[in-house]
Amino acid sequence: MKVTVVGAGNVGATVAECVARKDMVKEVVLIDIVEGLPQGKALDMQESAPIHLFDTRVKGTNDYADTAGTDICVITAGLPRKPGMSRDDLLAKNASIVKSVTEQFAVGSPNAIIIIVSNPLDVMTYVSYITSGFPSERVMGMAGVLDTARYRAFLSMELGVSVKDIQALLMGGHGDTMVPLPRYTTIGGVPVTELLDRERIGAIVDRTKTGGGEIVKLMGTSAWYAPGAAAAEMVEAIVKDSGRVLPAAAWLSGQYGLDGLFIGAPVRLGAGGIQEVVEVELTADEKALLDESAQHVRANLASLERLQRA
Ligand code: LAC
Repeated sequence: MKVTVVGAGNVGATVAECVARKDMVKEVVLIDIVEGLPQGKALDMQESAPIHLFDTRVKGTNDYADTAGTDICVITAGLPRKPGMSRDDLLAKNASIVKSVTEQFAVGSPNAIIIIVSNPLDVMTYVSYITSGFPSERVMGMAGVLDTARYRAFLSMELGVSVKDIQALLMGGHGDTMVPLPRYTTIGGVPVTELLDRERIGAIVDRTKTGGGEIVKLMGTSAWYAPGAAAAEMVEAIVKDSGRVLPAAAWLSGQYGLDGLFIGAPVRLGAGGIQEVVEVELTADEKALLDESAQHVRANLASLERLQRA
């Protein structure tokens, strides 16, 4: 199998490294427009192979011809957030980058699965879907794995329990309107709602929603370790056809009463991409939060359309 990572910045390089270290594919191609950068990072990673003990070949390039025949492509290209910016502020610029990258990539890899990481995530996934013309099961966005990882990390810090025993579900767009679902969060099988009071859960949910921004504020740019690891986990589920149930930005066509947009929902991931959008029951309150998040994604789609008409 061949994996391409578009964008050799911090997130892209981390995705490439995490995928390589899993030692599960023959080749990882790291591509960027900056000359020398993907080549340098790829060579550096290749030189770590004898230490990490992986046989995956890592190749850096500026030429899309080298990505031909890719099975899974992770697109991280675009501008990251700076302090004071929301993910939505990146809309116009990143839409044109994601469109151009998708066009160039799709030529040589018409059967690939695309995972979008660029922000604003849900809308960029839509842009890549429309541009590629790929079926919806082969285009998805990485957000829920990252957002639930943050949520689980905070829960583990609060409760002093192993992250290995924390299961969580989170839905909605990748923004401050995301919807962590405490009712579907368990610690060693026990609902978190039985272990923490509403206030403490509420504080963790709020920290999760603004988790990306917390890091931007600390270091002046967007996160990469957790985003990179999260994208690699989705790649692994597809490569191994494992059928993992993970939250991802998926095309909804009626599920959860939503139609015609990409937004975070639990999906079964395996060979071929999204094998199923898993539907769980939501309370009226949870559904209201999901609808509000969907409204936010639709508003972003509408402003992109306005920008493109102007
Ligand atoms: C974050 C970026 C990757 O949440 O959206 O850190």
